[in-house]
Amino acid sequence: MEIKVNKQDIFVDSFWSFMMPDHQHWKKQLENIVMVEKNKDIHNFSNENKENKPVQAHKTSWDSHHRYPAVFNIMDLIATTIGQSIEQDGWEAPQLNPMNCWINWYEKNQYAQTHNHFNLLSAVYFAKIEKSPSKFFFHREDRFRLQKKNEDSNIKLLIPKEGSVIFFNGCQAHSVSANTSDETRITLAINFNGEYSSEFKPITQKGY
Ligand SMILES: [Fe+2]
Repeated sequence: MEIKVNKQDIFVDSFWSFMMPDHQHWKKQLENIVMVEKNKDIHNFSNENKENKPVQAHKTSWDSHHRYPAVFNIMDLIATTIGQSIEQDGWEAPQLNPMNCWINWYEKNQYAQTHNHFNLLSAVYFAKIEKSPSKFFFHREDRFRLQKKNEDSNIKLLIPKEGSVIFFNGCQAHSVSANTSDETRITLAINFNGEYSSEFKPITQKGY
């Protein structure tokens, strides 16, 4: 006898996106920072972060928002936009604190393998990708989860537009395709933790 099993969805994951205002201005600023970092590296005086995994690309230091005013301004604009957006969407919107903020630049054949950031929210600004297209993949492997037999349904592909910003749950696994072009690809990433106001009353263990 075959027993009928019912399935109901519980929570559904999302990612959000918006277009960066004054994109050309910010793109130029980030291009300049990357150019300076490349030159500094020639003279062994760079802020480049040489940790090479899981993102097989060049990176500035994790606290780049404290080192470059333009990076701080971009981070601040993104944090404000995310804060307003999630509040309008009905989420308990915390004060977003940037834990890490850095620039990635991908030269030919560099990519990011599957990883996650272990934060409340992560954001990526696709600053220079027009001539070095980037495929961004979300993976169904951020926690213990069943995997579908059809591998494609464990992956959600996003083809971002230059100038767009995406943000998503910071525990969401993701990866980025290799840069197959000769042009440098530049993105900026931010990890946010959340600080809740004193009026926020989270559910406690009491009574369970
Ligand atoms: Fe990442």
